[in-house]
Amino acid sequence: MERYVIRGGNRLEGVVRVGGAKNSILPILAAVLLNKRSEEIILTNVPRIRDVAKMVEILRSLGVSVTWSGSNMAVSTSNVHSYLIDEKLMREMRSTVFLMGALLGRFGEVCISRPGGCAIGHRPIGLHLKGLTALGVQFREQQQGYLYGSSVRLTGADIHLDYPSVGATENIMLAAVYAHGMTTIANAAKEPEIVDLQNFLNKMGARVRGAGTDQIRVEGVSQLASVEYSVIPDRIVAGTLMMAVAASGGDVILEKLIPAHLEAVTAKLREAGVQIREENDRLRVQGVARPEAVEFVRTLPYPGFPTDLQAQMMALLTRARGSSIIVESVFESRFKHVGELNRMGASIIVATDNRTAIINGVKKLTGATVAAADLRAGAALVVAGLSAEGETIVEGLEHVKRGYENLEGDLSKIGADIRRVGGL
Ligand code: UD1
Repeated sequence: MERYVIRGGNRLEGVVRVGGAKNSILPILAAVLLNKRSEEIILTNVPRIRDVAKMVEILRSLGVSVTWSGSNMAVSTSNVHSYLIDEKLMREMRSTVFLMGALLGRFGEVCISRPGGCAIGHRPIGLHLKGLTALGVQFREQQQGYLYGSSVRLTGADIHLDYPSVGATENIMLAAVYAHGMTTIANAAKEPEIVDLQNFLNKMGARVRGAGTDQIRVEGVSQLASVEYSVIPDRIVAGTLMMAVAASGGDVILEKLIPAHLEAVTAKLREAGVQIREENDRLRVQGVARPEAVEFVRTLPYPGFPTDLQAQMMALLTRARGSSIIVESVFESRFKHVGELNRMGASIIVATDNRTAIINGVKKLTGATVAAADLRAGAALVVAGLSAEGETIVEGLEHVKRGYENLEGDLSKIGADIRRVGGL
């Protein structure tokens, strides 16, 4: 079994570059299905992570041809022949859910198996289905948990989301691209990755406006063109590196990111005494020996503090001077890292609502063998291991590899003592 072996205590120093965003490339890879032209689409700054490999496997099963060259990808969709997503592939990656909108846009039909829950909660898709139904899709449950959706003609509609779900917003945008007339999504998610999806779709010839605000308008078009497009930097990878540098008391410049996407994170790190300077596409992060406690961190949809950095922030605060409170308001079950951090000497209590954690700062963490229950929990254990005394072994790397291209490489480059061992 693959694991990280980390010897904590090294101060991180140097320069590290951030790659393309997982949460951008996944919906963009769904969006390529809308392209019916024979020319290839070229995607650049694509992260070579496990979730992308899975998405490529699914696209290939539908007839898409994908060729890699470094972090560039050439995608041809002229031979797409199927709207049925295999249950096994669907189970392996929940994000396949937004292939629904793209396949409905392309074929007027889709057949997927209902995604189950995952480590961080129940994760229903009611908002996706409600939005697509408003565009004229009729859904029918089928045998073996499959869900079949079809529409004779997708038609624009006014949709109000009960909650600004990222995936539902993207799914509806994708289905609306070829719908007849205008679609309005109110209370839409405002994440930068949604703006990236809009920019990609518009470069292909779609007419999408308003992404980044809570109202998105999509005017249906009848055809799209093949284009070249570069994916935005991954703000969650950037944030993870910021926490790692802060936890080590280091001094690092992060390059090729968009500082504006990290404002909520920067604000909380500054409260913790970390110095952050922004300059164009660079951030300089300077940590302190022990961070200050942060009174209150609450995860929220963008531009609030991202749930995907909650675990890493908690890892940093374990060694703060004083007590901090973190409230997880986006997902129902996202504290799986708490028990593992406590095994390393942290003092964290979770309230019975399973949404509030009180982190009583301790002077030091001690290395231990810990296991990642999900992607970001794994990243948090790495952050903790870097500042712990002695050796930390992080198991469950298959989760971390879903969203980090080469976390150990990035961290080694700036002076961390981290090795990946085991596996093939
Ligand atoms: C996306 C991100 C994920 C991030 C999350 C929140 C991708 C590939 N993943 O996930 O990294 O953590 O946004 O920023 O972009 N919900 C419902 N009904 C629905 C849909 C969602 O109740 O139909 C709930 C979910 O259970 C959850 C909350 O809404 O509690 C947020 O989910 P959503 O914004 O949809 O997240 P994802 O798109 O799944």
